Amino acid sequence: MHISELDTPAVVVDLDILDKNLSEMAAYCAQHGLSLRPHTKTHKIPEIARMQIRAGARGITVAKLGEAEIMAREGLDDIFVAYPIVGSGKLDRLVDLARRGRLTVSTDSAEVALGISDAARGAGVTIRLLAEMDAGLRRCGVQTPDDLVALAQYMNRLPSIEFLGFMFFPGQVRLPPAEQAPVLGRIDARLQEAQEKLYRSGIQVRVVSGGSTPTAYQSHLMKTVTEIRPGTYVYNDMNTVTIGATELSRCAVTVHVTVVSVAVKGRAVIDGGSKTFSSDLLRGGEGRGFGLSVERPGVILESMSEEHGHLNVEACPGELKVGDRLRFIPNHVCTTVNMHDEVWGVRSEEIVERWPVAGRGRVR
Ligand SMILES: Cc1ncc(COP(=O)(O)O)c(C=O)c1O
Repeated sequence: MHISELDTPAVVVDLDILDKNLSEMAAYCAQHGLSLRPHTKTHKIPEIARMQIRAGARGITVAKLGEAEIMAREGLDDIFVAYPIVGSGKLDRLVDLARRGRLTVSTDSAEVALGISDAARGAGVTIRLLAEMDAGLRRCGVQTPDDLVALAQYMNRLPSIEFLGFMFFPGQVRLPPAEQAPVLGRIDARLQEAQEKLYRSGIQVRVVSGGSTPTAYQSHLMKTVTEIRPGTYVYNDMNTVTIGATELSRCAVTVHVTVVSVAVKGRAVIDGGSKTFSSDLLRGGEGRGFGLSVERPGVILESMSEEHGHLNVEACPGELKVGDRLRFIPNHVCTTVNMHDEVWGVRSEEIVERWPVAGRGRVR
């Protein structure tokens, strides 16, 4: 089927760009001796996870147990749940996952670590743990190298736990890559301090897991880091472009929409609103709107109601007519894709894949 026959709104993945994004990241990691454990929250599609593994990834990362369950059901192994697991229902599901394959979890607290240890011991399984350090995002993670050492020592003593090392998420680092060295160096120094203290107490840190898409290609500057977990890099989006971490030509996802009304002067309406695009605003930069119109950058997706995207077309009056099709690169691709049942894979304008977004909405 030709791309123009696809009913809209639809999320379309350019498979040639996807291939390039996957292979370039894998090559970077191979060159620098880093393990790649991509965060699959961006695509939530087992087939893309398998492509990442085939391209050289060691395993995958997920945020939620529901996402891990989908991936495990589809045969993916060596899953890192980068989220603290709290509550007996979740602990039961966690040990079920651990029975099926290699499983790692991160946490910043003794309480969560103890809960996982108790559940794992009860089920006769071993779960790997990483201690999380806050690298400046102020979301999760212990605050000082000494706290990291104390947590690691505690984890190392717990039954049915294999202490692996540290993790951090530098999500606040949104500088252009060429300017990131000082902040990454400071994070690295804190990790190194904790690592050395642990080593002196007889505990080895085998894994230091870091990495976001904006910082991914600077990871080699952090000598402690052994693995990275970029997620957005598979598709990229306007946030990634605005930071300077990628180019428009490396954005694999476009949302295809149709103009359904031009009745109001200076405006046009497309068939996708806030249930099609995520309402994330562009982080930083001068850009307005909820995505970039590929064909007509002067057209601004200015506001959205649920089913209507409100375009400001003052820069190109009279150009759009009912039935015109437009493509938008979303500001934040992860939250956009999560709203869609499927994505369509395209090569040379032909639809060649239809992938259900199997992990969408798995918030528990
Ligand atoms: C813990 C963790 N690791 C890795 C990532 C991937 O980062 P990015 O979306 O910049 O690729 C995220 C994203 O939210 C995350 O929360």
